[in-house]
Amino acid sequence: MSDLKIVYHPHPALRWKSKDVTRIDAQLKEWIGQMFDLMYEARGIGLAANQVALPYRLFVINPTGDRDDTEMEQVFINPQITKRNGSEEGEEGCLSLPELYGPVTRAEKIVVEAFDLSGEEFAMELTGIHSRVVQHESDHLDGVMFTDRVTDKVKTGLSPLLEDLEQQMAHQQDKGDLPDEDAMIAELKRLEAERT
Ligand code: CO
Repeated sequence: MSDLKIVYHPHPALRWKSKDVTRIDAQLKEWIGQMFDLMYEARGIGLAANQVALPYRLFVINPTGDRDDTEMEQVFINPQITKRNGSEEGEEGCLSLPELYGPVTRAEKIVVEAFDLSGEEFAMELTGIHSRVVQHESDHLDGVMFTDRVTDKVKTGLSPLLEDLEQQMAHQQDKGDLPDEDAMIAELKRLEAERT
């Protein structure tokens, strides 16, 4: 398989409800390495598998966004948010929605359980930006974008930018630089079947 790329709205991978990872092997580790690279290149702090058109429940984060701060790198495989407390509004963006930002209300404190790259289960209590990024990335695995969680008024303000992205994708499909939607969906189904 060729190198992964970040996909943008309205790629169907971003609306995919992904299935659990069933095995952690060399291929999965290779993809995760590429996901960290793409995340840093795009100056992000989190990247979900859906955003590189992989239909599996995993994401990577580094809340500092600093490539040299490898201690802050974390991989979440088959994550589940088991507790949510309080609520807090904060500005969010998304590498699959370039130039779009908006206020999103999230739980203030969460407990997340997941598996790491060695297949060990772990649980963490998170607050602040760490809590927000995990909630944002977990949403991606269910095909939910932050723009689904903004107020109608904010959404109206963002709609011209969403339409621009839709036009850009249509244009790339017309030129043959991107496959059409049916082919994108067929590829997601193929990848899903390959690892379930
Ligand atoms: Co995102």
